[in-house]
Amino acid sequence: MLAPHPVPSANPAVPWWRGAAIYQIYPRSFQDSNGDGVGDLAGITRRLDHVADLGVDAIWISPFFTSPMKDFGYDISDYCAVDPVFGTLADFDALVARAHHLGLKVLIDQVYAHTSDQHEWFADSRATSDKADWYVWADPKADGTPPSNWQSVFGGPAWTWDARRCQYYLHTFLKEQPQLNVHNVAVQDALLDVAKFWLDRGVDGFRLDALNHAMADPLLRDNPPAPEVPGQRRTRPFDYQDKVHSQSQPEMVYFTERLRGLANEYGAVFTMAEVGGSNALEEMKAFTLGENRLDSAYGFDFLYAPALTPDLVATAMAEWPGDSGEGWPSWAFENHDAPRAVSRWCAAEDIDNFASLKMALLLCLRGNPILYQGEELGLEQDDIPFHLLQDPEAIANWPLTLSRDGARTPFPWTDDERGGFTTGTPWLPLSPANRARAAVVQSAAPFSMLKATRRLLALRRAHAELRLGRFELLEATQNLLVFRRTLPQGAVLCAFNLGQVDAAMPVDTAGMTLLASINGGDSSELPGLSAWIGRTAG
Ligand code: BGC
Ligand code: MG
Repeated sequence: MLAPHPVPSANPAVPWWRGAAIYQIYPRSFQDSNGDGVGDLAGITRRLDHVADLGVDAIWISPFFTSPMKDFGYDISDYCAVDPVFGTLADFDALVARAHHLGLKVLIDQVYAHTSDQHEWFADSRATSDKADWYVWADPKADGTPPSNWQSVFGGPAWTWDARRCQYYLHTFLKEQPQLNVHNVAVQDALLDVAKFWLDRGVDGFRLDALNHAMADPLLRDNPPAPEVPGQRRTRPFDYQDKVHSQSQPEMVYFTERLRGLANEYGAVFTMAEVGGSNALEEMKAFTLGENRLDSAYGFDFLYAPALTPDLVATAMAEWPGDSGEGWPSWAFENHDAPRAVSRWCAAEDIDNFASLKMALLLCLRGNPILYQGEELGLEQDDIPFHLLQDPEAIANWPLTLSRDGARTPFPWTDDERGGFTTGTPWLPLSPANRARAAVVQSAAPFSMLKATRRLLALRRAHAELRLGRFELLEATQNLLVFRRTLPQGAVLCAFNLGQVDAAMPVDTAGMTLLASINGGDSSELPGLSAWIGRTAG
């Protein structure tokens, strides 16, 4: 139940992106328009009304550039062209025009840490041309083994031998994703030209992929071993190292400054870095410090967390207290890399209740919430049998690593076999469980996760406290999480019971106006898996 609310006029002093809700689209899996079983840009354009109706402010589209698709588009062979499977540049222009018409900003993915091995820069670099130093090349050790002990994210050494150069090249991900040497100013210039190409086409910002992997220690020093974390299973050699030398170089901030300098020429462009690793917080802070670097960054706090606890949320919020000069955080509970959150955070029978509870929480956080396509339907992780797996990481690590494919299955628009996604054979199967949660089904139902998401997004739009207010923690016990978002004009109280056991509201709610109740929460009682959101003026 939600009370009606007025929509405030925009404050011109605050850039559009501050507190904005962002919707991530994984183009392969959103909507196919030509029957080849793979989603495409024309398909996205066709479905933008669904996104606009949700009430988000922006879309972020995962890579749609020319690619051999070894890592499904995160291996780019031409940064300034659209892969034929996704369409054409004209399709992209049409997408941007339609999005802007609907009031949606458009963010695109920029992958600056590596290219595809099919990129012409890499071909030139292998041939030791003037681009010889555009990638990270190194001689073998005297015994022929790789120059350092660095390991790749997807498993196995981060170095592959190239017979032509008689040298190894570095790749933090697949061997088909050679790492760029972003220390090299000529490489930086080329990447900035790419950014400029898309800014000139009208994009409103960038999600910067794996940014802290774009520079490695020029001395190629070995990474030290990482201390074992009790209870954490190490599935890859990568997990055994503290990656202080293979990534996370301090010079990276100078590149963020150059990128920001370019972005500033285009007005309110939003720049948001993806930053993982054991030093992620420190690096996110450095990348976003002051006025001359990136606007925002997000890490993996929630993406791989096995449970959603009050402590996890309180700790994440405390990392960004809002000090002056501090960057602005962004938060994702789900994306195309991590298993669907409901499958990590609750029992199967609680999925529907938990989905709306966690959506309410995400949309009450200070920062930019990033929703992943299908999260608004409460989709669960799909179990893809080995013979249908597509993701190279999942195939290499099967059955130990939860498959990324299970979070990349096509969007169920309708509840029939192909989900309204394609007229052909979908590149990954749609499960009956998720098809039952199809958008048409939820649009028609009087109460649904989809409708709850729309109302919660409307609430965030209507109340500046939720977008911009300070975060004040009031209570974080084993199951209860209560905080307040405050601005001079008012305060919104957000109370969540993340556990199964009913609890009394732990704070005084006298005089507050109801904004939203999830799963039966009220101003005095919070049943298991419920929430209550209320406001006081002034
Ligand atoms: C992307 C992944 C990709 C990797 C390499 C990540 O952070 O989100 O999907 O495999 O970067 O580009
Ligand atoms: Mg298609």
